[in-house]
Amino acid sequence: MTYTVRAPAKINLHLGVGAPREDGFHPLLTVYQAVGVCDDVSMSRSAGWSLRVDVPDWIDPELVPLDGDNIVHRAALLLAAHHGLTEVHAEASIAKQIPVAGGMAGGSADAAAALVALDRLWELETSDDDLLQIAGVLGSDVPFALIGGTALGTGRGELVEPVADDATWWWVAVCHDVGMSTPAVYRHFDELHPDASPEPPSADDLLEAIAVGDVHALAATLHNDLQQAAFDLRPDLAEVIAFGEGEGALRGMISGSGPTCVFLNESADDARAVASAFSEKGHETVLVTHGPVAGAHVVTYA
Ligand code: C5P
Repeated sequence: MTYTVRAPAKINLHLGVGAPREDGFHPLLTVYQAVGVCDDVSMSRSAGWSLRVDVPDWIDPELVPLDGDNIVHRAALLLAAHHGLTEVHAEASIAKQIPVAGGMAGGSADAAAALVALDRLWELETSDDDLLQIAGVLGSDVPFALIGGTALGTGRGELVEPVADDATWWWVAVCHDVGMSTPAVYRHFDELHPDASPEPPSADDLLEAIAVGDVHALAATLHNDLQQAAFDLRPDLAEVIAFGEGEGALRGMISGSGPTCVFLNESADDARAVASAFSEKGHETVLVTHGPVAGAHVVTYA
């Protein structure tokens, strides 16, 4: 028996960051959107544990750890422990399409997909609430990868609540070979904002833009508190944003903690035109995608 589960990358339409909490994490008020760039995680029965990863030619396989540090392995151990099991048995494989260390929560998507696939493979019937709770222990973005769609995230990002979103938003994602460290970007945010409020900024205007399906209003209200920190650490990114906006994107911004830059477009055709301009300029990995899409879900079982 093999279960293949697909889980989406995310974009933060709004990433409001507050002053660090006592545990070192930052309180967030974020609006996530799941987009159609997905990883597939397959789980088959096996006497032991093994993990392999397949990558497209633009992802360096060395960037994905396959040892005990891999988030899929941690997801397996945590799910097993939740059910009082001490050993994990499965042949796991990840087919990656989401940029690694790109600010699009690729590792979180893999963890969410692994939880859903193993829950089926091991016939555990874990409740949705328990899966979300386990996901939150694995990482701040993992619960969102389970629910997908468009959602409000609070706490350190792990408390998620769906947001009604009937539109289709067209995005271009410009990826970079060298990833960025999320903790380093947050640390620099702290240096830039020693007096940050414990309350992250609200997303009310952006939520209103989504409610009425107005792409220009959404473009005007996109917000990422980590953007300046990411620009300081990677000055080339500001030029990437300026170029995309010059080529007709309504708005560009850093995705999460970067370095992937995402651009909102008025239509699919506009998104393709912006992507072509980036390709002609020499950017090798440029994705045209749309959101919202579903969270982690079974795509094949055989
Ligand atoms: O939760 P996750 O494993 O994705 O977080 C990775 C790192 O990002 C954390 O160790 C922390 O340095 C930083 N982070 C943070 N505040 C958040 C989420 C992440 O400081 N709300």
